[in-house]
Amino acid sequence: MKLYFSSLLALAASLASLAEASPAQHVFQPHLGGLTGHLPGSSMGSAREPTVGLLSDSKWSKIETMAALPNYQLRIKQPHLCATNTTQYSGYLDTADDKHFFFWFFEARNVPRDDAPVVLWMNGGPGCSSFTGLLMELGPCRVDKGGKSASDFAYGWNDKAHVIFIDQPLNVGYSYGKDVFNSIAAGQDVYSFLQLFYHSFPEYANTELHVFGESYGGHYVPATAKAIHEANLEFTSKQELGVLSVAEKEKRVLPLTSIGIGNGLTDPLTQYQFYGKMACNSTYPPVLKQEQCDSMDSKYPTCARLIEACYRWQNSLACYPAEMYCNTMMVAYQQSGANPYDVRIPCEGSNLCYPIMSDIDTFLNDPAVQQELGSDVSKFESCSQKVYGGFILNGDWMKPYHREVPPLLDAGIRVLIYAGDADWICNWYGNKAWSEALEWSGKGGFQAEKDADWVVDGKAAGEARSYKNFSFLRVFGAGHMVPYDQPENALDMINRWIANKPFY
Ligand SMILES: *[C@@H]1O[C@H](CO)[C@@H](O)[C@H](O)[C@H]1NC(C)=O
Ligand SMILES: *[C@@H]1O[C@H](CO)[C@@H](O)[C@H](O)[C@H]1NC(C)=O
Ligand SMILES: *[C@@H]1O[C@H](CO)[C@@H](O)[C@H](O)[C@H]1NC(C)=O
Repeated sequence: MKLYFSSLLALAASLASLAEASPAQHVFQPHLGGLTGHLPGSSMGSAREPTVGLLSDSKWSKIETMAALPNYQLRIKQPHLCATNTTQYSGYLDTADDKHFFFWFFEARNVPRDDAPVVLWMNGGPGCSSFTGLLMELGPCRVDKGGKSASDFAYGWNDKAHVIFIDQPLNVGYSYGKDVFNSIAAGQDVYSFLQLFYHSFPEYANTELHVFGESYGGHYVPATAKAIHEANLEFTSKQELGVLSVAEKEKRVLPLTSIGIGNGLTDPLTQYQFYGKMACNSTYPPVLKQEQCDSMDSKYPTCARLIEACYRWQNSLACYPAEMYCNTMMVAYQQSGANPYDVRIPCEGSNLCYPIMSDIDTFLNDPAVQQELGSDVSKFESCSQKVYGGFILNGDWMKPYHREVPPLLDAGIRVLIYAGDADWICNWYGNKAWSEALEWSGKGGFQAEKDADWVVDGKAAGEARSYKNFSFLRVFGAGHMVPYDQPENALDMINRWIANKPFY
């Protein structure tokens, strides 16, 4: 999950609350989504604080530091929760400038430790906790109805991989501290987290690393991969020149092997073309009347011009108007009562259309669960409205993160774009279109390649297209959260991918 689909009213409310937090910085007019005065910087908003009484060094089994990263430390404990037979760790990455990222790690269940790669998982939002992905999509356990407990889940992605769930950006889930409202900064923190993680657990360091995410993860994943790749290049060249300091020698080249994005928002200019098509003329029955879709589509030319300006300038001033204008395309869909994450079903419950989201909130707000995991904060929210609003004001939403992908492909890092074919908000049409339009050395070859059936247990699970190190996968019968709707097929997907086996 999840491109956090706020109604415009909720969005306005969240922006208004940010405005109240720092009235000197801007004046916001909620009903128009208009912003007057100057745009805020990324440091606006107040920090989220730990809960008095929960902070305690004695709850950690290990506090890890590295001379090469003097401003960071990792606090670690070994919880017994979720899949109790699986080795697991949880804790915080702390930075000197008051950032505290929560993580939860699970060792691979069904292969020897040394053979398993690491998968890093990030949910979207912006502002949603990766623990929603853990407890309803691909973790080794799934929350039970009512949220009092969680049960073993056979299709967890830690079947053949070690999986790390990280709560980022800051102030999402159990993470807290200073606010960070752009994907690039968030990517750099994840790089430091991984250095410390491998330093603490060298037993996981010698295999491959796959960075995966969903929805707004279409921003985080390329940003994180770029941060890792560039830091690796710098490290390697210093190593070759023999100019690494004693402290720097503690760092390592992070074994970034691939990235994966599920139902992501990555290239908005291309993707915003397909809202009308997905609502009225997809492979599923239409959700809206044709004239509503026509009206949605009629906004695209203006929307496209605004996004082009954002791509060109890449600052809040250019990007914010695109967000405000283009997201009005979503109003009709929202009013229809259909689920924006799945055209096949209605939006149910008060919590992002999936009642299970409320169960996750209940589970992670249980003091016993928080104690077992070592949370420093007593309130868990599956999606933070404040972080969402901050990213919106920062203009991050419409920025061209697909441009980070070609350098990765050229460096031999494999790239998987996959999409459940019933999702509306980050639909497969848009994801396939940007995959085909991507400017890289294999563009022509990828366009010329035919789609082929991806078969799981004798049944077509989707349609795949691969060329060299780039794959697009359309997943049949899945909404926005592929592993939630198609757990078996999603497990086949990740297992094939990490084994570098073809989809067809
Ligand atoms: C956990 O391990 C025990 C002992 O090895 C075994 O009996 C049990 O079936 C396992 N439980 C699960 C859910 O795998
Ligand atoms: C629906 O899609 C098909 C094929 O993609 C296209 O030929 C047709 O014109 C579309 N219908 C409308 C009303 O847009
Ligand atoms: C992936 O990229 C690497 C490095 O460019 C290359 O050696 C390899 O052949 C590529 N894989 C495929 C399947 O083309």
